[in-house]
Amino acid sequence: MQLLRLGLLVASFAASIGAQSTFSPARPPSLPLAVRSPYLSTWLDAGSDGGNGGYLAGQWPVFWQNQVNGWAGMVRVDGETYTWMGLPGTTTVNQTAFEYTSTKSIFTMNVAGKLEMNITFLSPITPADYKRQSLVFSYLNVEVASLDGSDHDVQVYADISAEWVSGDRSSIAQWDYGTNDGVAYHKVYRQTQAAFSQWNEQAEWGYWYWATDDKNGMTYQSGGDTDVRGQFRNNGKLANTGDTRFRAIQDNWPVFGFASELGSVSSEPASTLFSIGLAQDDAIQYEGSEAYGPVPSLWKSYFDTDVDALTFFHLDYEKSSHISGSFDAQVARDSLAVAGQNYLTLTSLSVRQAFGATQLCGTEDHMYLFLKEISSDGNMNTVDVVFPAYPIFLYSNPELLKLVLEPLYENQEAGKYPNTYAMHDMGSSYPNATGHNDGTDEPMPLEECGNMLIMTLAYAKAAKDTDYLKEHYDLLKKWTGYLVEDALYPANQISTDDFAGSLANQTNLALKGMIGIQAMSVIASKTGHQDDAAKFTSIAQDYITKWQDLAINKDVSPSHTTLSYGDDSSHGILYNLFADAQLGLGLVPNSVYQMQSDFYPTVANEYGVPLDTRHTYTKGDWECFAAAIASVDTRDMFLQHLATWLDKTPTNRPLTDLYDTITGNYPSSLTFVARPVIGGAFAPLLVTS
Ligand SMILES: *[C@@H]1O[C@H](CO)[C@@H](O)[C@H](O)[C@H]1NC(C)=O
Ligand SMILES: *[C@@H]1O[C@H](CO)[C@@H](O)[C@H](O)[C@H]1NC(C)=O
Ligand SMILES: *[C@@H]1O[C@H](CO)[C@@H](O)[C@H](O)[C@H]1NC(C)=O
Ligand SMILES: *[C@@H]1O[C@H](CO)[C@@H](O)[C@H](O)[C@H]1NC(C)=O
Repeated sequence: MQLLRLGLLVASFAASIGAQSTFSPARPPSLPLAVRSPYLSTWLDAGSDGGNGGYLAGQWPVFWQNQVNGWAGMVRVDGETYTWMGLPGTTTVNQTAFEYTSTKSIFTMNVAGKLEMNITFLSPITPADYKRQSLVFSYLNVEVASLDGSDHDVQVYADISAEWVSGDRSSIAQWDYGTNDGVAYHKVYRQTQAAFSQWNEQAEWGYWYWATDDKNGMTYQSGGDTDVRGQFRNNGKLANTGDTRFRAIQDNWPVFGFASELGSVSSEPASTLFSIGLAQDDAIQYEGSEAYGPVPSLWKSYFDTDVDALTFFHLDYEKSSHISGSFDAQVARDSLAVAGQNYLTLTSLSVRQAFGATQLCGTEDHMYLFLKEISSDGNMNTVDVVFPAYPIFLYSNPELLKLVLEPLYENQEAGKYPNTYAMHDMGSSYPNATGHNDGTDEPMPLEECGNMLIMTLAYAKAAKDTDYLKEHYDLLKKWTGYLVEDALYPANQISTDDFAGSLANQTNLALKGMIGIQAMSVIASKTGHQDDAAKFTSIAQDYITKWQDLAINKDVSPSHTTLSYGDDSSHGILYNLFADAQLGLGLVPNSVYQMQSDFYPTVANEYGVPLDTRHTYTKGDWECFAAAIASVDTRDMFLQHLATWLDKTPTNRPLTDLYDTITGNYPSSLTFVARPVIGGAFAPLLVTS
């Protein structure tokens, strides 16, 4: 009886969702769809905590903060209409496969056994091509082909709703339709522009573009959701009309549709391309060496108008797809060579998320990379958020690391920060890079001084840019002075893991300070300051010798570093050790690397090694830092735990970096999502044994 009922339940569940999809190389908690900047960030929730398991049809795509971004797709085959994206109300197609690479998410659909669809979301990543990287746009390409040997009559439809243009659903949207050079577009925006403002983390200014090829068989329409979608469902084409009653986003939900007549489709694939993106003339407000004021989006340096930028982007699909494909292949080749498929599962998922928290701004001669500390507090260019992410920048283009540090240097070198240690961030609320003239930023003095020294040397070494070190020498030396004071016996303070609480004499934080001092010795020697070089290396050597007595519990087997000096029963992930290896400093003896590498497997839980003994949660970025410098076995243990967790976690939001090592869920009350720190997945690529 029990068995029979169970059998029926499973059967009816399987029927209700149709055929099962495969997920390759894993099923992430949330699948990246259009993820390109802090404001172009649309995902499909997949995890069991409220997601549908990763099926594109049958639930709405969402902004990273989890509000619906109405984005619908339908296909009409021989007069029958089906849904392939979102929830517009027709029968859903059967998803058979999902696959991701560094830049693409690809869904394969089976439509009534008649048609196969490949639906590709491409968010291009071109780290060394600033013109392309500056564009806040993403592609959606739909390919169809007959599956059953017969030709079928096919039309493809997709729309966006005005939900993209403001986080406040009662704000008034306005729109327009146009064509340019073979591209047809809907332009949609908040009627009252609120420059540099956010609502539910969405941008309240700028112009959204939703575009397709302006070709024979293309029809368009704007209007209420049920009207426009109903028009397609019933007729397979749209009315080529524009709704002119500008109204609230939630008032009879205006949507902006395109339909494409593909005619009779055989086994030869036919396709329709869409582009989605945001054009903001000014993206950021910034206080650098000059007075606080607006900074343009970098794409303004390359294009006269936003329609020119859109047109370039849309017509660039083949080239852009090719460049992104090369980057996908590079990440795949390098990741597989270093640590195999589990590792590639992680690196390839991290790319869009890390870059998706950034935007290139300024002018061709004077660029910045601005970065949003998404979800944890919205700070700008937070130094201890850039630090975990720095491996992806260094790996993909070291210049990007310089560009993300640039605002911090300009502001502090103009004397706009009063403290003797390094500033925590460029501003409390993206997109306002106000700096902290009053010095009341979140104090993480030791952490940020160490981070600035380490990342500055990392960039200069990778780019062979000694002038950069000369340029910033005075400030670097000032920060080192702070480290000399505080690194041996760190005062009671928070580290970057501020959620775990403050503590004195933190082993890992002290180590960062000492590595920072040794980094300064190298900086001094590279810039001809031999006295400073000798002085700082002798201090660093002295400290690291003392640190080994203070910070290691030698009386247990296996021995290990403690969380804080003298607390013998404690331990933690010693992730700052990564910087010693990455910079090739040789400050810390090999025995410490070996000891930690032997120790971690003895304290691992199902989904990883806890961050420290205060909690069972961990940080995926720091696990990757630890993995990068561990023995092959220990490294593979870390990476296998991470890849398994990523596939199994019940979380259903853009990949968290903070999760419980036993349940795989968020720690209670801490929901970090979509954070750029996941760029730390690239740490193992920066250290070759
Ligand atoms: C989906 O698959 C189920 C089970 O094979 C089938 O009954 C249903 O007709 C399919 N639906 C579509 C739209 O292909
Ligand atoms: C979908 O992609 C697969 C793998 O690249 C290919 O074999 C197939 O022909 C494609 N189908 C369509 C409809 O484009
Ligand atoms: C940024 O500053 C502007 C004023 O210049 C303000 O209107 C806006 O709300 C601020 N944005 C955020 C996210 O705090
Ligand atoms: C830090 O450790 C040193 C050496 O064990 C000890 O003397 C000092 O009291 C500790 N500092 C704090 C604030 O606990």
